[in-house]
Amino acid sequence: MEFYNREKELRDLLNIIRQEPNMITFIYGPINSGKTVLMYHLVENILPRQEERYATFYINLRQYYVTDQDSFIRVLFNLSEEDIFTKVREFISKGISFVLNYHGIPIKESLLEKLLKRREINDAFEFLKNFFMKLKRNNIKPIIIFDELQVIKDIKINEPLIYRIFNFFISLTKELKLCHVFAITSDSTFIERIYNEAMLQDRARYYFVDDFDGETVERILRSKGFSDEEVDMVWEYFGGKPIHIIEVIQAKDMRRDIREYCEDILEERKNWISEVILQKEDDKEFFEKVISLLKKFLHEDTFKYEKITPELLFLVDKNILFVDPRKKLVKPQSKLNLLAIRNFLKEFNV
Ligand SMILES: Nc1ncnc2c1ncn2[C@@H]1O[C@H](COP(=O)(O)OP(=O)(O)O)[C@@H](O)[C@H]1O
Ligand SMILES: [Mg+2]
Repeated sequence: MEFYNREKELRDLLNIIRQEPNMITFIYGPINSGKTVLMYHLVENILPRQEERYATFYINLRQYYVTDQDSFIRVLFNLSEEDIFTKVREFISKGISFVLNYHGIPIKESLLEKLLKRREINDAFEFLKNFFMKLKRNNIKPIIIFDELQVIKDIKINEPLIYRIFNFFISLTKELKLCHVFAITSDSTFIERIYNEAMLQDRARYYFVDDFDGETVERILRSKGFSDEEVDMVWEYFGGKPIHIIEVIQAKDMRRDIREYCEDILEERKNWISEVILQKEDDKEFFEKVISLLKKFLHEDTFKYEKITPELLFLVDKNILFVDPRKKLVKPQSKLNLLAIRNFLKEFNV
């Protein structure tokens, strides 16, 4: 896969990583804006080229079906019989350069079973803390990355699991300065909840990863042989949504007519949005509220909200709209969604 742009984001993230850990870093933005790809690129291509030695642990909470404490503990770890410190010592003594990028924290099967049997998540956290301390003593800076953190937002074991996890993150960063913690999510109502969470005040920073800007889109498309007219058309239909840009490049490779392609995709999206909205038609009062909210987009691309109403929550949960809690702004998840919303309203004349 070709990786485009993101110089600024990579610079900003490197600057965070070069500092001592002080805060949890939440990375948020609309769906398919390129958050996961950006973090992968950072881990695989940028960090290994730095002078400092880092060890990264990428935990994708979507990888398993995480529903309770046990499955959360399982997703944190990755079975491995190899001892990472033996490996590190060996590489150092032989003067071999190495990179430590892991998916999950490597752990021996017997130890994981023990942790699971205790049924106490603090034991797992204690293990992680000691593991990170040992890395630090070996002059290796640990970084832990949680992708799709919203998966655990509703899990409760006496108290919500997320609070215990946040407490752990705070101790790793602000208190012990042990490890950088990144948490990625596209779920903007979850980010809104976190943003207003008292326990995270001054303990978290928020980093927004948006779609590409116009200049970047133009540069990418030109390098792929798009004409002026096609570049304008792609921007008109898709804005800078990375996934749409990648897809339209593939369409061009397959010699599709770009206008026809854009119109097809918009038609499909409009049908999908109609389907989602019209399902609510029976609940007249709610339906009216959904429609009047959508109507704000007839003449605007974005508007300010005061609070998350049930109809806004519904549209965000369906990935039609996106909210940015720092600016208190609502906007469609993509340019395509904006156009599809407008076409839906016109077609149904609601
Ligand atoms: N910087 C980039 N360069 C090339 N393709 C990208 C880039 N960012 C995103 N993409 C494309 O967009 C898709 C969605 O990106 P992803 O990182 O999964 O989004 P998110 O995690 O924000 O939902 C990727 O699978 C990839 O095809
Ligand atoms: Mg992602």
